[in-house]
Formats: sequence, structure tokens, C-alpha cells
Amino acid sequence: MTVTNTAPAILFVCLGNICRSPLAEGIVRKRWSEQGSTDLPLLDSAGLGAWHQGDPPDGRAIRIAHENGYDISAQRARQIRSADFDRFDLILAMDRSTLVRLRDARSVEDSRAGLHLFLDYAQNRAADVPDPYYGDEADFRSVVTMIEQASKGLIARASGAI
Ligand code: 4NP
Repeated sequence: MTVTNTAPAILFVCLGNICRSPLAEGIVRKRWSEQGSTDLPLLDSAGLGAWHQGDPPDGRAIRIAHENGYDISAQRARQIRSADFDRFDLILAMDRSTLVRLRDARSVEDSRAGLHLFLDYAQNRAADVPDPYYGDEADFRSVVTMIEQASKGLIARASGAI
């Protein structure tokens, strides 16, 4: 049976695009291909800043992802651009300050993308995926756990969406 791809195109956004949003992209990509009830949609990630443009994810993110069965090593960082607001259906911010800055950056009010917090899809009450960049590997592990939890809710909702 051919499955029609009706799932929304999703962009994950954090500050640098080398820690949280690449993890979110990689985890959702793998879990969607295993659990999603639609074909894999367009998934991508970007950062508010351009400091790491073209770089692979942080080595700690690659390592902790690998430990948990995800390969994010081929991803390359990029900065969000205005066309993203019309290329994606959902733009998911990894924390509240990113969401505020995305709302400011969106030049057209009625752009295609809906802007939301990624953790709106999780069961727990946290709003922010904490930035692990200045932390240690334990911080990256807890980020992976938070993203895995939210991924379940996101995939359940988005793969049932039009
Ligand atoms: P991310 O973490 O937003 O989760 O990718 C950061 C990575 C780099 C920087 C800040 C946060 N930085 O300032 O270079």
C-alpha cells in the first residue's frame, strides 16, 4: 500500500544548531521512520546564530546520540533564513527565548509556518530544553531524554495531521 505523505514539514531551531536542534532532528527522523503512520516528512534544523555555519554537531552531541542509537554526524549547521517561514509548516523552538526571537524574525504575520515550543508536545511541564553547550555529557544525556519524550507526542500528533 502506498502511504500518502500528508505530514507537516518541520524545522527545529535552537541558538547554535550544533547541540539541541540537531539532536531533535535526528531523534525525530529515526523515531518517525519506526513509528510514524505517514511517510517521513521534510525535517531540518537551524540556529538563530551563524557562528557554526557548516559545522557538524558538537562532538558530545554526536557521541551521546550514538550511544542512544541515533546518527547525527552528517548534519551541518546553518542559520535560519526568511524563506524557512514559508518552507515549513511547523517551526519548533527548543526554548522560550528562541521562540520569542523567531516571532520577531518572522517578517510576515501570515507565513505558512506555525511557531511553537518543541516541549509543547511533551507530557511533562518543562518549557525549555536547557542549553547543554557549557555543560557536560550528563546535560547532553538529559537533553536526549527530554527530546525523546517530546518526539513521541510530536510524531503522534503530526503524523495524524493533515
Ligand atoms: P545549541 O547550543 O543552541 O543547543 O546548538 C549552543 C551551541 C553554541 C553556542 C550556543 C549554544 N554558541 O554560543 O556558540
